[in-house]
Amino acid sequence: MTDIKKGLAGVTVDETAVSKVNPETNSLLYRGYPVHELAATQPFEAVAFLLWNGELPDAEQLAALRRTEREHRALPDDVRAAIDLLPTSAHPMDEVRTAVSVIGARETAGISNVMDAVGTPEENLQRSIRLWAQLPAVVAYGQRRRRGQELIAPRDDLDYAANFLWMTFGEEICTPPQAAEHVEATEAASVPAPSTSSGSSASGGVPDPVVVDAFTRSMTLYAEHSFNASTFTARVIASTLSDLFSAVVGAIGALKGPLHGGANEAVLHVFDEIGTAGNVVPWLDAALADKRKIMGFGHRVYKRGDSRVPTMKAALDTLVAHYDRPDVAELYDALESEFVARKGIYPNLDYPSGPAYALMGFDTLTFTPLFVASRVTGWTAHIREQQAANALIRPLSEYVGPDERHIDGYVADA
Ligand code: CMC
Repeated sequence: MTDIKKGLAGVTVDETAVSKVNPETNSLLYRGYPVHELAATQPFEAVAFLLWNGELPDAEQLAALRRTEREHRALPDDVRAAIDLLPTSAHPMDEVRTAVSVIGARETAGISNVMDAVGTPEENLQRSIRLWAQLPAVVAYGQRRRRGQELIAPRDDLDYAANFLWMTFGEEICTPPQAAEHVEATEAASVPAPSTSSGSSASGGVPDPVVVDAFTRSMTLYAEHSFNASTFTARVIASTLSDLFSAVVGAIGALKGPLHGGANEAVLHVFDEIGTAGNVVPWLDAALADKRKIMGFGHRVYKRGDSRVPTMKAALDTLVAHYDRPDVAELYDALESEFVARKGIYPNLDYPSGPAYALMGFDTLTFTPLFVASRVTGWTAHIREQQAANALIRPLSEYVGPDERHIDGYVADA
């Protein structure tokens, strides 16, 4: 009998120079740099550049990337029209998947010979940058559309992360310049409530720096994680010499599942179910009796804790203090300590990022699309790496169906 590795667990399928996950030392390196160092010091644009090019950008390279990113920030009319064809009750991951399909069809229009679909390395770098630049508008518009709010135009004076927040929340997330001296008062404000306003013009305010910082860190932490399910999906598609956008669409489908990226949304559903820290024990008793998986815990590779959690937990703690929401921290800590004590299974990145995104004001359904907006950098780095040293990914299977048999004149509707 063939030795089958279910779920490819423990199987090394290829080499990569994009990132290194080391469960022994609990470290994650992007192109050699520890992810927590990148999250603490770099704008997300620099992290994206690093993943695509292998080195951090110099000032000129960063400025050039930022110029290109700003040029492509606005939601194209036809992409918006395609999104608007979908019911507002469609899952936002389906919306993002559809939008990337439309962006890809626009980008590759005119390529009628399938042999040309794959494109050159330089074409694919530029496609990666443009796709990354357009996704915030897709995600932001999705949330606004579901809330019955108008599209907000991008702002050229803001970097990637601040502009992403601006396009999602507009003035709701801004600290007006005149209020700068009242930071303490701002820090005592409650979580921004969903607004029904439809403001779409730039104001003198800038997105709250505390939120921008936490959001930037989350984008960096989500950007890349070696051969996870969605990245592997992207590489499988790329290995057929299909186009970059098809590979990203497939990756989005893989990321949607709650065992992978959908877990950050699922964590908030769990928090909503439990309600308060005092309910953790009876909730967990019932959940484990039902053999439920507890979302936001466990990992295929890390068995002693996810290397990204401490950085995201610190960002969550900052938001908890900023919005004065100790109840969120109490529930977080109570579920973590009770579950770890019972099962010895530790939180993964989705556990702190879920409540962090909720405190920032994102709808629960928007969390996994945020993961897409970040991970598109890692996916496209891997797609280009796959293309550069390609071998069609085509594994074998062990057949366990019926032995050979024959029709012998059988006809269903005789
Ligand atoms: N809750 C309850 N039990 C768990 C959990 C969990 N979250 N995770 C693992 N286990 C148990 C599992 O039931 C099994 O027990 P037993 O041996 O008694 O059957 C054992 O631990 C091994 O679990 P597994 O599912 O075979 O391990 P895996 O390496 O295939 O699973 C995982 C990894 C992420 C699918 C799993 O831990 C899980 O389902 N976690 C919840 C979903 C989640 O948070 N996913 C996000 C993953 S990290 C971010 C990302 O990649 O997007």
